[in-house]
Amino acid sequence: MTTTTKKKAHLLGFIQHGVNSHATGMWRHVKDKIGWDFARPEYWQHMARTMERGMFDAMFIADELAPYNTHEDSSDAIVKWAVQCPTHEPSTIVPIITAATRHLGVGVTLSTAFEHPYSMCRRLSSLDHLSGGRVAWNIVSSYSKSEWDAYGHTMTERSGRYDRLEEYMEVCYQLWDSWEPDAIIADKVSGIYADPAKIKVVHHEGKYYKCHGRHFCAPSPQGRPVLWQAGSSNQGRDFAAKHAEAIFAVHPNVDRMKQYASDLNERLAGKFDRKPGSVKLIYGLQTVVAETRAEAQEKYARIKECIPPEGALAWMSGHFGLDFSKFDGDAIVQNIEVPGIQGLFESIIYAKGGAPVTVKEAAMIYAQGMGMPVAVGTAKDIADQMEHYMDDGGADGFMLAATYTPGCFEEFADLVVPELQRRGRFRTQYTGATLRENLLED
Ligand SMILES: Cc1cc2nc3c(=O)[nH]c(=O)nc-3n(C[C@H](O)[C@H](O)[C@H](O)COP(=O)(O)O)c2cc1C
Repeated sequence: MTTTTKKKAHLLGFIQHGVNSHATGMWRHVKDKIGWDFARPEYWQHMARTMERGMFDAMFIADELAPYNTHEDSSDAIVKWAVQCPTHEPSTIVPIITAATRHLGVGVTLSTAFEHPYSMCRRLSSLDHLSGGRVAWNIVSSYSKSEWDAYGHTMTERSGRYDRLEEYMEVCYQLWDSWEPDAIIADKVSGIYADPAKIKVVHHEGKYYKCHGRHFCAPSPQGRPVLWQAGSSNQGRDFAAKHAEAIFAVHPNVDRMKQYASDLNERLAGKFDRKPGSVKLIYGLQTVVAETRAEAQEKYARIKECIPPEGALAWMSGHFGLDFSKFDGDAIVQNIEVPGIQGLFESIIYAKGGAPVTVKEAAMIYAQGMGMPVAVGTAKDIADQMEHYMDDGGADGFMLAATYTPGCFEEFADLVVPELQRRGRFRTQYTGATLRENLLED
């Protein structure tokens, strides 16, 4: 008789370095940040320790570079309703998080649009050193017009962005791989610190970037950060299949998850000669857990009450690059190619299992947590749903979208994690020394 071991879930806490993360209006929830200030280190230390107590693989810090300005050609509604705003620079909290923990990784979203690969590599290598090898980079290239406006550039099209990104990665790999492992001698007697013959000078002259110089950091514990990506358009999926070690996606139901998993695995094997299943598929999930189902439903209702309709619409306009204020609220959202995040747009289109979704409905669904499935119930109910997504949808893990913080992560660690562990679907201890070892383990 053969027995198959069911895979264990990987978990990421999905947040932003701001007053509000991906559930619009949560900053005003009665349980949000009681006694905590998001702009202070103590809050991040507590969030980090909570996630480590729950044995999460990592905290995932999402980011964008400026308040969205697509809605009514302005960022007024964004600042008014705290739609991912204010948001502070994400890499600043990485050392705070990793100094407060021993195992928890941190995935930091950093855009390639306005930063040269040289300084990007230096920053990420420095963070990987300081964390002892617990850093991941969520590679983004700025999909929002507001980011390009803020930096004084004209936004390039999706295809142009991916084109640049390819070359960007080429430079990064050269820099990260330029020091041989034994380049550092550190012989105090002779005074020789490093062997120049073992530290390559990178010479890159490309279409978009030039780089001549040595990487300024010695190899970090992971060599390079764990590479994360969340592109969902055709080109985005190719980019992810080629470069990423973990991929993020939001799919409202198990059929869409399954289709995505098989598409990704085909690209891995067919186009990039990588083993199907070798890249972790992490799906977005929002959870509302309580001791009883009735209590969980009550909690869920309180969460939804916080969503401001205008803020919801403005957020959707920002993410998809279309001004939804110009649409009739009762119009049906069409399945079109959008200038913004295509993959997340599809989570709206299929939010009701393929039935038509109006603009008003889409905004409210999206504002709850970017169209992620919401698991509401007891720990058992939520674990059932997670097992279903792993066994039938191809999920290797979940990015758990914050509602009120730190409470939602405390509740998950206290209630859902033990249930998953009892079922043998989640680790009972960290086994790896680095984030890569923990995240890529089966
Ligand atoms: C789950 C998820 C999370 C994302 N988080 C960010 C983010 O924090 N910052 C950002 O600039 N883009 C983010 N994106 C956008 C993508 O990484 C990508 O840049 C964008 O989707 C455009 O590429 P695409 O058209 O191929 O999807 C996210 C996308 C998804 C699906």
